[in-house]
Amino acid sequence: MTDDIILSTRDLKRYFNLGGGMLAKTGTIRAVDGVTLDIRRGETFAIVGESGCGKSTLARLLMRLLQPTSGEVTFDGWDIATLNGRALSALRRDMQFIFQDPFSSLNPRMSVGRLIAEPLETHFPQMTAADRREKVAGLLRQVGLRPEHAGRYPHEFSGGQRQRIGIARALASGPKLIIGDEPVSALDVSVQAQVINLLGDLRDDLGLTLIIIAHDLAVIRHMSDRVAVMYLGEIVEIGTADEIFETPRHPYTLALLSAIPVAEHGRETTRIALIGETPSPAAPPPGCRFHTRCRFAKDRCRTDVTPLRSVKNEHRAACHLFEEIARTREETIAPAVAKRQGAAEARFALYRSAIEGRGVRPQDQTQHDREETIQ
Ligand SMILES: Nc1ncnc2c1ncn2[C@@H]1O[C@H](COP(=O)(O)OP(=O)(O)O)[C@@H](O)[C@H]1O
Ligand SMILES: [Mg+2]
Repeated sequence: MTDDIILSTRDLKRYFNLGGGMLAKTGTIRAVDGVTLDIRRGETFAIVGESGCGKSTLARLLMRLLQPTSGEVTFDGWDIATLNGRALSALRRDMQFIFQDPFSSLNPRMSVGRLIAEPLETHFPQMTAADRREKVAGLLRQVGLRPEHAGRYPHEFSGGQRQRIGIARALASGPKLIIGDEPVSALDVSVQAQVINLLGDLRDDLGLTLIIIAHDLAVIRHMSDRVAVMYLGEIVEIGTADEIFETPRHPYTLALLSAIPVAEHGRETTRIALIGETPSPAAPPPGCRFHTRCRFAKDRCRTDVTPLRSVKNEHRAACHLFEEIARTREETIAPAVAKRQGAAEARFALYRSAIEGRGVRPQDQTQHDREETIQ
């Protein structure tokens, strides 16, 4: 492992057994099924895919909140499966989690000050009460809140502000890496942009590595350096954000992109529709797991497994046919995808404008933004 890799996995698997007794094959859910990843220090890495594809299980494995069925996770040179005692508490300090729902993840009976002081007490027991108060005030400022908010309770804040409190709590231990499991999907779109903007600023200011999990591709377009697309417990495509959004190769990625709604009336253009339902992760199809929903599938896709293959540079896709599909795409699908990409761009514009407005403090923001700022 080189120095610029902070976190890596090798053939990581986590299966869940359903019911008691004999473990019939159909009774085993393959939530994460052979994921190999290298996360670079300082990057924002996004993991996308439909609900149930194994994103949260993967996140919990990365943090050792779950034990793998098999495979390895290495964080900063440590094999995390074998950590215990002090080494495990160091891991808990270095890697923090931001939850999807900022409401249920904050204890409603604790003041904001207590909520943020708690991880400080855990990780820095020698800190004096005065230093702790000062640190809490600093963390509140860092996430765009005010020191006097420390005396208030979570219910007094809006969703976006509660997520800021969750972020302050995650920052308290001075982590190197933060994993956000759908950190903005419970928020309004305009508020999503603010929270994403904040995460990007914190990454730059503090030199953090971010892993962001999302089912909404628009959310991650402008914030991530690299993207991995998951389907039924596997990574089916991985590349830079530009590669994934501009030259997607896996038919599943094409379908995800084409599913971004077009805000326009009139005739529907070609959509790269997904056929049928997602198969159960307890009985993934043989061959390419995506073949049952792929309009390009051929015989070999039904029998031959699909390892990730190189597209160009480090862009890789797990599809037997991506060269062929890319040619088809140029002729017939490209215009439809371009239109979707146009629609996606319109949604991304919101994020872009938020990103361009970096450094704007809550008190300087527009009327709409100000609704998010408690007085
Ligand atoms: N503790 C568990 N016990 C049994 N099945 C689980 C458990 N956690 C997740 N699963 C199953 O594993 C699969 C992946 O779930 P999850 O990782 O939550 O997906 P995502 O976050 O992408 O929606 C799903 O089929 C889910 O039902
Ligand atoms: Mg999830």
